[in-house]
Amino acid sequence: LGLRKFRDELPLPKVIKIADTGDEHRTVSMRAKVGRHRFHRDLPETDVWAYEGQLPGPTIEVRRDTPATIDWVNDLFDSDGDPATLPYDVVRVPPSTTPTPTTRIAMTPGGRSVKLDPTGAADDSYPALAGTDDLTGATVVHLHGALTDGHNDGWSHNVTAPGGRTRVLYPNKQESATLWYHDHAMAVTRFNVYAGLAGFYLLRDANEASLKLPSGPYELPLMITDRNFETRVPKQPGEQRFTGRPIYKQAGIVAVDSDGEAVDTEIPVSGPFTLVNGKVWPTKKVTPRWYRLRILNACSTRTLVLAVHNTTNESAPPSSPANNTDSAGFIPDRVTPMSVIGTDGGLLAAPAPVSTLEIGPAERYDVLIDFRSLAGQTLELRNEQGTFINAGPGEADATIMQFVIGKSAASDADWEPPVELNPDYRRYLHVGTDLQVGSQTIHSHEHFWVALIPPGPGGKGHPELWELRQLGSTEPSPGHDLIKVIDPRDATLPPAERKVLRFVPVAKLFDDANSIVFSEGSWAVWNILHLGGPPHPFHIHMTQFQMIERGQWDLAALGEEGWNADNGTTGVLPIPVDSAIDPVRQGMKDTYLIKPGEWVKLLGDFTGATGSFMYHCHILDHEDHTMMRPFVVLPKEL
Ligand code: C2O
Ligand code: CU
Repeated sequence: LGLRKFRDELPLPKVIKIADTGDEHRTVSMRAKVGRHRFHRDLPETDVWAYEGQLPGPTIEVRRDTPATIDWVNDLFDSDGDPATLPYDVVRVPPSTTPTPTTRIAMTPGGRSVKLDPTGAADDSYPALAGTDDLTGATVVHLHGALTDGHNDGWSHNVTAPGGRTRVLYPNKQESATLWYHDHAMAVTRFNVYAGLAGFYLLRDANEASLKLPSGPYELPLMITDRNFETRVPKQPGEQRFTGRPIYKQAGIVAVDSDGEAVDTEIPVSGPFTLVNGKVWPTKKVTPRWYRLRILNACSTRTLVLAVHNTTNESAPPSSPANNTDSAGFIPDRVTPMSVIGTDGGLLAAPAPVSTLEIGPAERYDVLIDFRSLAGQTLELRNEQGTFINAGPGEADATIMQFVIGKSAASDADWEPPVELNPDYRRYLHVGTDLQVGSQTIHSHEHFWVALIPPGPGGKGHPELWELRQLGSTEPSPGHDLIKVIDPRDATLPPAERKVLRFVPVAKLFDDANSIVFSEGSWAVWNILHLGGPPHPFHIHMTQFQMIERGQWDLAALGEEGWNADNGTTGVLPIPVDSAIDPVRQGMKDTYLIKPGEWVKLLGDFTGATGSFMYHCHILDHEDHTMMRPFVVLPKEL
């Protein structure tokens, strides 16, 4: 691909500790500003937008129950004192020039194509968003995974222009977890995050401390992202010269909307280069001992399937686009197992051993890895699955980063991971029609239904969110605009007696009226139905969830009887095949990678904050194009 691997030592973001100073709120100021950054040792320095000018932003560390006040300052000015322009070009490869598969051309480095206006309004194939003519430089920060009131949560419309600031309070009344902060500005989140506006926020507590997990130099936050880089026009064929600047390059595709019209839309962005903590394919020297990796997928689009390969006797190719992603090269006995100890919102009850770990955009996994028996060896963290839309081998280089294990024996070689991690962990379960949380029975709870609708017939030329309004059982079926869902918990009944839930699906954009309102202190079940298209990382703000049930349809086999995606016809979803929940998805989570045909039930406790919040797809292109909706948590007294 034109850049050499393992040229840069893995950078570790600077840490800002918010100390416990009694009941005073410690105030920290964090500036989004133009910084200079080198993405790879062989690339020139370039402008980025980053918190405190650092990419990733500083890691904020805070103890549970220590409130923190952060002044988020928008200081995005250029050297002349004018509001900064985006530090890269946004280009689209038009569909007419795009070979099959369409993703491939966007994944090649650099190039030039149709330059787009980097505002949400530039894409006429997507629903128009009011007032998004020029949002360049508008910012608002969301602390992803935090329990905080709506006015502190980074509501997308509440942007600040360069020169402005927003003071935000984070109560930190939640267990230790890997959170992250990133920009969330309406219609331009994808551009701001790609420019560099993201960082870690680590919440720590007494339980975590009692576990004596690897810490200090042995605890590595790994923010995985992808980028494409701009190239100059080659002077001779095959020559590739990078400018050092990123490029936001997307492939156009032609989709058919619900009226049968062809619309020019695009594949969400992904780039051929994988970065960890801001460097392309870095390397890290480690000692032969246990390490703790705090892994965050901060890609805009790309899902990663992580595996740690032993590459000791393989000659590391400088850059080989094709062969590394070939799963034929996957040698299981050369894969070092990982032990997952935590998910988005906290520690698991017990470690879950895995050899591969799928992580969608915005998901976090807290992982232990044992390098003790690997002294002198070389490992590579790889992505077993190249990219976002089932691309074949060669779409993106599989390498993420390298670990070079030293020979010096570690002092605490006897340490073993605790068998029990989290005494506060309570498994959420369905028991009959009740919900069981630990030993507590939840008799009343809210139910919400959301369908993820594929692009094409039934939807527009892009995926959408449909909120489903359940019809009362006595309400006559209008026969149209209906989704019928056969409740999987009635699977024991003969088909004729099975409960059928009838819904009116309502396609909604972000600015359409809010329809999800409930009181603070409620437990709520969110039923998410994926009706086709790519996997979507589904994120709900304000609280952490547990998956209490999931099922899987064979979408292809639904056929005539199944979901008919054409507008105005009835869709019937039969009982999904009940599927077990992967142990790593049983933890506390705020983001779930939901696969085509999947039905998941997420249970969350909406206690401890009120206000307006958002739920959305975390493919930033989808989120910016209104695959995002509001919900309101009312104060209990009202
Ligand atoms: Cu990580 Cu609503 O976002
Ligand atoms: Cu999506």
